[in-house]
Amino acid sequence: MTGWEARADLVVVGSGVAGLTAALDATAAGLRVVVVTKDDVDAGSTRWAQGGIAVVLGDVPGDDTDRHIADTLTAGAGLNDAAAVAAIVEGGPAAFAQLRTRGAVFDPSPSGDGLARTREGGHTAYRVVPAGGDATGAEVERALVATARGAAGLPLLTGHVGLDVALDAAGRVVGLWVTDDHGRPGLLRAPAILLATGGYGQLFASTTNPSAVTGDGIALALRAGATAADLEFVQFHPTVLHTGPAVGRRPLVTEAVRGEGAVLRDRAGVRFMTDVHPLADLAPRDVVAAAITRRMAATGSDCVWLDATTIDGFAARFPTVFASCRDAGIDPRVDLIPVTPAAHYSCGGVVADVDGRTAVPGLYAAGEVARTGLHGANRLASNSLLEGLVVGGRAATAVAADLAGPRPMLADPVARPAAVPVADRRVVQRAMSASAGIGRDAAGLAAASDAIESATGRVLPADRAGVEDAALTLLAQAVLAAAGTRRETRGCHVRTDFPDRDDVWQRESLVVTLDGDGRPVVGGGVLAGAA
Ligand code: SIN
Repeated sequence: MTGWEARADLVVVGSGVAGLTAALDATAAGLRVVVVTKDDVDAGSTRWAQGGIAVVLGDVPGDDTDRHIADTLTAGAGLNDAAAVAAIVEGGPAAFAQLRTRGAVFDPSPSGDGLARTREGGHTAYRVVPAGGDATGAEVERALVATARGAAGLPLLTGHVGLDVALDAAGRVVGLWVTDDHGRPGLLRAPAILLATGGYGQLFASTTNPSAVTGDGIALALRAGATAADLEFVQFHPTVLHTGPAVGRRPLVTEAVRGEGAVLRDRAGVRFMTDVHPLADLAPRDVVAAAITRRMAATGSDCVWLDATTIDGFAARFPTVFASCRDAGIDPRVDLIPVTPAAHYSCGGVVADVDGRTAVPGLYAAGEVARTGLHGANRLASNSLLEGLVVGGRAATAVAADLAGPRPMLADPVARPAAVPVADRRVVQRAMSASAGIGRDAAGLAAASDAIESATGRVLPADRAGVEDAALTLLAQAVLAAAGTRRETRGCHVRTDFPDRDDVWQRESLVVTLDGDGRPVVGGGVLAGAA
């Protein structure tokens, strides 16, 4: 082959909470691990997570894992895999303890004899553990990167872009086609690849996700023959700072602000969540985001307002939000904060079990890129860092088990990366934002598909921009097809032409595969349902 070659037991693609946890655990299990990431190590979503880690540590009166499981199932609106929910929630305390041994520091409780807790939408207890006030993801990422660079001595290949999974004639993983940080193509030969590339928030013009979050891992997996599911469930965070029409990553205003007592008000100053849900401003995220969208439409306003003026010590408790507000000329101690919903989290992804195994031998997925069944139709706040920790660790154990014993020589890959459908990402983002946000209908979804189709050609992605554009194009087609097929409103999938939940869809996850031309095909499939 042309270019360079290297070898490992496990190649981890992505360097957020799931990828680094898996890489560290797999290294500890004696595997030769290489982490590849297309940008800097902390360029993904993990470091932007604010609220905290949802985990039951046994020291909050009235809370227990059954309650955390029940809240997760309620938020997921009937589409969770109940066994996956139990496994991940129950695995939380041990995974959290291990993260602390890796140096992550969490906020102390006011009395100083335990850890602080906050609450977010959909949680019926104070069980979310914050770090740095509202900088939890930054602390998690810092600790994991420091451990990886320190004692673990993990090779972290930044600026390396995964082009395609390399497969042998039997469809087993034999490596990853990659371009290195000088743009040179090469092959990382390995019997195991773990995808931990995050979601696809950049499908939308306005998102809380950084620019690197373009669905690359899902595209890699689908092209390798894996399946994806629940892709229509794009979670919109109810509150990002509204500073006028915006494109790209928007500053998040963590739900923990509402957990500490802030309330939403419309342009007339009226609280509106009290009429919507028994948990009012702390209803599950899909409920709050949809209610805000309806209120904005009803009042002809392009935002609503978060009233956090009652929170004592706002600047110290929420330093990240405070800094974003101050940059925009807003002082949350005295001003209402203008907020709108924005694309935030991909509840679906590559179909994987709670050990990260996908349908392709040797291909694993963990974190936001994966659909384990934890989230169903709507993720419970702060369950994402939890999932990354637990499934990242379990995937490392699974890879070590799968590679144990004598290993056959790795065969050569049977194919090289080929041309795939690619559209201009600005067209994709415009079309998705116009028609596939909160409030979708058949006509809008069809119009978005047509707009993207007419901007699509076939290209051989050879660099980061090409890989990202190809992934965004594929994800847009898949999300539009799945959203058009699911003719009901459930969780964060809101259809204005089918405004009610329909029990026919109660246990049905839409499964996406690729046809011979590399285009997504949506089929029904009962992957799992809540008990
Ligand atoms: C937030 O802090 O509101 C976001 C946390 C999450 O998405 O889980």
